[in-house]
Amino acid sequence: MCGIVGYLGEKNTKEILLDGLKELEYRGYDSAGIAVLQNGEFSNYKAIGKLVNLEEKTKDFITKGFAVGIGHTRWATHGKPTELNAHPHLGESSYVVHNGIIENYAELKKELIADDVCFLSQTDTEVIVHQFEKNLKFSTNAFEAFNKTINELDGAYAILLTTKSEPQTIFFAKRGSPMLFGVNNEGEKYFASSDTPLIGHAKEVNYFEDGDYGYVSKNEIVILDKNSKQIKPIYIELSKNKLSAQKDGYRFFMEKEIYEQSAVILDTLMGRLSDDEIIFDELDNNIFEGINEIKLCACGTSYHSALSASYLFERYAKIRTSVEIASEFRYREPIMEKDTLFIVISQSGETADTLETLKMAKNAGLKTLVICNVDNSSMVRLADATILTRAGIEKGVASTKAFATQVTIFWMMSLYIAKIKNSLKSEEITRQISLLREIPASLKVSNEMHEKLKRLSKRYLHGHGFFFIGRDIFYPLALEGALKLKEISYLHAEGYPSGEMKHGPIALADPELFTIALLPEHLHYEKSKSNVEELSARDSTICAISSKEFDKADDFISISKCTDYMLEFFEMMVVVQLLSLEISIRLGNDVDMPRNLAKSVTVE
Ligand code: M6R
Repeated sequence: MCGIVGYLGEKNTKEILLDGLKELEYRGYDSAGIAVLQNGEFSNYKAIGKLVNLEEKTKDFITKGFAVGIGHTRWATHGKPTELNAHPHLGESSYVVHNGIIENYAELKKELIADDVCFLSQTDTEVIVHQFEKNLKFSTNAFEAFNKTINELDGAYAILLTTKSEPQTIFFAKRGSPMLFGVNNEGEKYFASSDTPLIGHAKEVNYFEDGDYGYVSKNEIVILDKNSKQIKPIYIELSKNKLSAQKDGYRFFMEKEIYEQSAVILDTLMGRLSDDEIIFDELDNNIFEGINEIKLCACGTSYHSALSASYLFERYAKIRTSVEIASEFRYREPIMEKDTLFIVISQSGETADTLETLKMAKNAGLKTLVICNVDNSSMVRLADATILTRAGIEKGVASTKAFATQVTIFWMMSLYIAKIKNSLKSEEITRQISLLREIPASLKVSNEMHEKLKRLSKRYLHGHGFFFIGRDIFYPLALEGALKLKEISYLHAEGYPSGEMKHGPIALADPELFTIALLPEHLHYEKSKSNVEELSARDSTICAISSKEFDKADDFISISKCTDYMLEFFEMMVVVQLLSLEISIRLGNDVDMPRNLAKSVTVE
């Protein structure tokens, strides 16, 4: 995910910007750049790949005395990770860095091109600097032009802009993307998109609110709120602990990542939805030509998302789909035929078992695709095609936001293939695309829900086991819920298809067996309900998750009313993640680093 830094002061501006960007590295990026304005002249450097490349490019660049600088790490969304697409973006005499998305960039770009403005990049960001320079021609000063510009932008942003017409000033605006500003006793001023770059530099910081904008110069700090009323900064002392700052106030990375899901899905969807079709620029049109079957292969949580895909692919795309556990697949002499598209799924892109199956598929001459969160990982380098999930760096060992983005990609893919194969009516594709846009809202964690789960968790700290049960696509979600719980709580948990309990596991039912029942209103509700009633009749302790009241449960977690089972899927996913988290925190476990587990399993 993108990161921003900014600096005004007398110290070594280049080093301060590069150090700041290093602190943002953990968020993930694929290119970086800085622009420094000193003695009325700009110096600008950009590099793709890691920051060492930018350090190498700037090694002979020296800053001395007062300077104004902005820097950025970019996680590609609009346009590939190239130097031209890296920030800062240049107009004629101004530079801009931006996090977020300018939704009306295409219209603005069209108008600017009609005015003979030349664009160098494919990004949405570049319109900001050109629009600013256009406005500057008709404004009395740079701030007026900046103000006009941000009023013309739709979408989400954190913006820093520097211009030769005000060479000792940084203009800023924040809406939807985080940004803060810091000061110290030496008169230095800092900007960043999160706390960490400022630790050790700024003494106190002001977190901008949505709608805040203004400018900071050598001698002035001017902040206006969304009603254009000048406000005073509210400074708070900055934490001295980098790790806790990265957690942004959450107790664990896992908790932060659960809360981030709503925002990262926006990134996953960005640029990939039109009103009536799914757009995967990264796929060749002919990737599905001659394909009669899809085989998905993965481990752990990624395997569960693959299982979800099999329901969606067969239901919507009407294509035969099978799912394999990678560690099994590699040793069982599987039949691999050329009319099969082989898809591997991996958060890290480095999991040894999954990587090996990808090699096997390639050797057998199959077309291969990887759904992955880490660009340039081994799987991404090896597969014929890649779809990046854009979840940002996932630090918690227990995967949460990676799973949410994988399932979202699979839902999109099922519609993408359905369109090619004409297996769904166009009105249905349009309906589902509008549902996809509702996922971020379904993933928002409400205080009320989190508090309820915190309270409830104290009743689930013992017992002889948990069964997470669900039908259809809620079965993989049940598996995932059970995996989350056992990974971080060390309690025994299983995921099971609701209808299968009576074929054996129901023998375990007693008050000390905890059943977490997934009861979606819009998919096989009555059937699932009967299965839960069978367990309730045998005195299992039931915790039901549904939008429909259910009186046979000991505990009931009510999710919002949704119009489709897939939105219920995402609502319930958050519930099972938070329930596992709260149980494990009560048990005193380190949920970010559970015993015996590693984030990236690069051994067999
Ligand atoms: O990076 P990958 O998605 O390939 O990792 C696969 C599994 O190791 C991973 O999902 C693991 O199960 C997680 N700990 C789940 O929370």
